[in-house]
Parts: sequence; C-alpha cells; structure tokens
Amino acid sequence: AVVEGADARLAGQRVVVSAGGTREPIDPVRFIGNRSSGAMGAALARAAAERGADVTLVGANLEVPVPDGVRHVAVESAEELHAAMLEHVDADLVIMAAAVSDYRVVDASDRKRKKEAWGDSPTLALAENPDILVDLASRAEGVVVGFAAESETDPDELREVGRAKLERKGCDFLVVNSVSADTGFGAVDTSVIVLARGGSEAASASGDKVSVARAIIEATTKEHV
Ligand code: CTP
Ligand code: CA
Repeated sequence: AVVEGADARLAGQRVVVSAGGTREPIDPVRFIGNRSSGAMGAALARAAAERGADVTLVGANLEVPVPDGVRHVAVESAEELHAAMLEHVDADLVIMAAAVSDYRVVDASDRKRKKEAWGDSPTLALAENPDILVDLASRAEGVVVGFAAESETDPDELREVGRAKLERKGCDFLVVNSVSADTGFGAVDTSVIVLARGGSEAASASGDKVSVARAIIEATTKEHV
C-alpha cells in the first residue's frame, strides 16, 4: 500500500519486521511473557509500506492493529518466530523489533498443570532460546537490523552497551533505546540512536513511534537497500 503523498522509494523491496513479545508456554493456559505491545514494530512496518515496500509483519501476540497494506504472520513463541523469520531470509531488509524471550520452558505440559503436580517448592526448568537475530545476521542476504532496550540513562554508556551488542549480534544496524522511567515499553513517545556496523551513529530520533520508525527506515535503507 503506497500512502498518498509519500514517495515510493522502496517499491519492489521486500521488508520483514518482527514485532511484539513472545510467549513461552508452561501449559495450554499459562506462559512466560513480556510487556512488548508490538507498537514499534507495527510502526516500522507502516513506515516501510508508506515507502512502497512489500511488507510482512511477523507479529508475536500483537496488542496493536496491523497497518493497512501489511501482510501479517501471527506467531506465539520464540521458536515459532524463529521459523517464521527464516522463511524471509531472502528479504532486502529484515528488522528484529520483537522482544524475544531468552528462555523457554523445558517440558511444557500439553495438559493444564494441576497444583499438586508442582510439589512443595516449585521450580521451572528453562532452556535458552536460539538467538534469532544472530542467526539472521549470519544468513540473510539483505540488511539486518536489531533492537536493544537498555536501562542505561547516560548517553555515552548507552552507546557503549549498544556498540558491544551490535558487535556480538553481527547485524548491520542496532537501534538502541533507553527504557528508563517514561520511555520504552508501552510508552507513546520513544527516543533511539541507530548504530551502524563498526559503531558509528547512523541516526538518532525521538518523538512518537511512527516518526521514529520513519527515521529508522530512512537511516537503514539509505545506502544499502
Ligand atoms: N533477539 C533474538 N533472539 C533472541 C533474543 C534476542 O533475535 N533469542 C533479538 C531481539 O529481537 C533484538 C536483539 O536480539 O533485536 C537484542 O535483544 P536483547 O534482548 O537486547 O539481546 P540479548 O542478546 O538477549 O541480551 P540481554 O542479555 O540484554 O537480554
Ligand atoms: Ca534478551
């Protein structure tokens, strides 16, 4: 869907964005989850669609609407998200905006677990989930963008933490935001810095999520896509 008035700079480009928060089942009615609504990822999908791209939004438990003209693939767990993203390794731009659970529950029950089955001092055995971003960064042909929500409030510290994570992930760009008091998860406004491979700052933006998303799409598609 090309929104009226916008230029179709990304026409013919395939963009895939993951959004939302994964849920790791404990049993059919319970899960381990997080507070991500999917708003940032949905805004990115919208911003790419406005530019004329062919956009797929892989949504993990979205609490926000799917933007017009954007294809939606619904997933729940990190493993489902991983499989869905691997279907799109050939995209021109891959953005991992989803909040992925670092761990999943070992031996999730396929029946609702009774209280007595937990015993006196219950524990949940966890196993580490695959790092989807690392996997995509090593396999994808196009540009790969990761996200990092960090609690550092000092801009220099935030940048340093971001640079280390960017290097560890091996992606082309890392969008870093500070999740202190009034920004980040659930907030209407957000503030980000976009780090490029090597650690230079490609852009910074703050404001409502749609404006920030436009700036991120702009910065990550300028030279590469
Ligand atoms: N990510 C992923 N797969 C995972 C965990 C994270 O693809 N199993 C992606 C997220 O979607 C995000 C980026 O990696 O784009 C950074 O996530 P983050 O949780 O900040 O990174 P971690 O490596 O899990 O580090 P931390 O110890 O800070 O949680
Ligand atoms: Ca994590």
